[in-house]
Amino acid sequence: MIIAIPKETAEREKRVALIPDTVSKLVDNGHDVWVETNAGKSSSYLDGAYETAGAKVINDRAALFSDADILISIQPPAQEDLGKMKAESILICLLWALQNEDTVDFLKEKNITALGMDAIPRISRAQSMDALSSMSSIAGYKSALIAANELDRYMPMMMTAAGTVAPAKVLVLGAGVAGLQAIATAKRLGAKVEAFDIRPAVKEQVESLGASFVEIPDLNEESETEGGYAKELAEDEQERQRQVIHEHAKKSDIIITTALIPGKPAPLLVTKEMVEDMHAGAVVVDIAAEQGGNCALTEAGETTVKNEVKIIGPLNIPSMLAYHASQLYSKNMLELLNHLIKDGKPEFDFEDEITLNTTITHQGEIISPMLKKE
Ligand code: NAI
Repeated sequence: MIIAIPKETAEREKRVALIPDTVSKLVDNGHDVWVETNAGKSSSYLDGAYETAGAKVINDRAALFSDADILISIQPPAQEDLGKMKAESILICLLWALQNEDTVDFLKEKNITALGMDAIPRISRAQSMDALSSMSSIAGYKSALIAANELDRYMPMMMTAAGTVAPAKVLVLGAGVAGLQAIATAKRLGAKVEAFDIRPAVKEQVESLGASFVEIPDLNEESETEGGYAKELAEDEQERQRQVIHEHAKKSDIIITTALIPGKPAPLLVTKEMVEDMHAGAVVVDIAAEQGGNCALTEAGETTVKNEVKIIGPLNIPSMLAYHASQLYSKNMLELLNHLIKDGKPEFDFEDEITLNTTITHQGEIISPMLKKE
């Protein structure tokens, strides 16, 4: 089987879907791996390393798409490229099927089997394939560094001959995979950290990282779905939440927001009034910017300054750590391929929860239960 890796073409995308170390494992398993020239260059994986790993490095992008049995990428390729793929070949990428209906229809019509790395179920058995967790963890780590870099203050407490400097106060909103990593990173930098999430189960995790948990009275205990994700709060609960956050925001040097609700726009947690009440020089890093943002003043991909408070809405943060993001994605991908490929050939057993949820289209049909629900 030919497994092909194109160079990513999307703006801001520096990652590559498979790194040389993973390629050598696939080659050892008897696969041919084709890599487009310079596919890994922007993440520091050079063509020579792919060749040493046993890949064929080719300049002909059209051939890469037309001859691939399995095409692996980070972002969904453009339809112009997908149109070259042969029927019954397989595409695996971060497809975001709910947001990319046109691409999904196109793949279905072309009889391409498409798998979404973002659709892997969040179950223990699939943890090693969970690209969302790998990427969120990177985003959380980097968000704390972006905030520290933009702040005109120290993060740790400093005792100097010129006096003592108090540690920065960091408020993290949303303590899922990204939020927990933001907390851990801000703590390592010496900041005083507090955090809030609507899922009560998170309190213990926040405290185990040395941060304090912000309590909001009378929140619905049923704020979590079966899959462990958050549910949208009722309007009165949202209002109560904003009042409490407002009080904490006034005292914060940094707010990092990471709150998401699957299939919905990001919840509004930091209002314009809260930003107006923050002190000059404070920083808001809104890593939910791609899904509309948790702060009312966030502009995706921009830094906005309001009353001397910086509001940063970074896009594609994992790509900023392209080397390690590619390494982790590549390992997640290898685990998924090992799960799918039996005796050298992909097998689609839809009795299996991982295969069922991850497969978006197969043999001209929509398979994903997430899409069938729509
Ligand atoms: P996510 O990226 O969908 O959301 C981020 C966080 O925002 C979540 O913790 C959510 O509760 C929180 N949130 C939503 N609305 C909020 C609001 N109004 N105020 C404050 N916080 C709000 O979540 P993520 O990080 O992808 O994780 C979701 C769940 O999946 C977690 O329970 C996590 O532990 C679980 N998980 C399980 C895995 C496994 O067992 N294999 C792997 C990874 C995650």
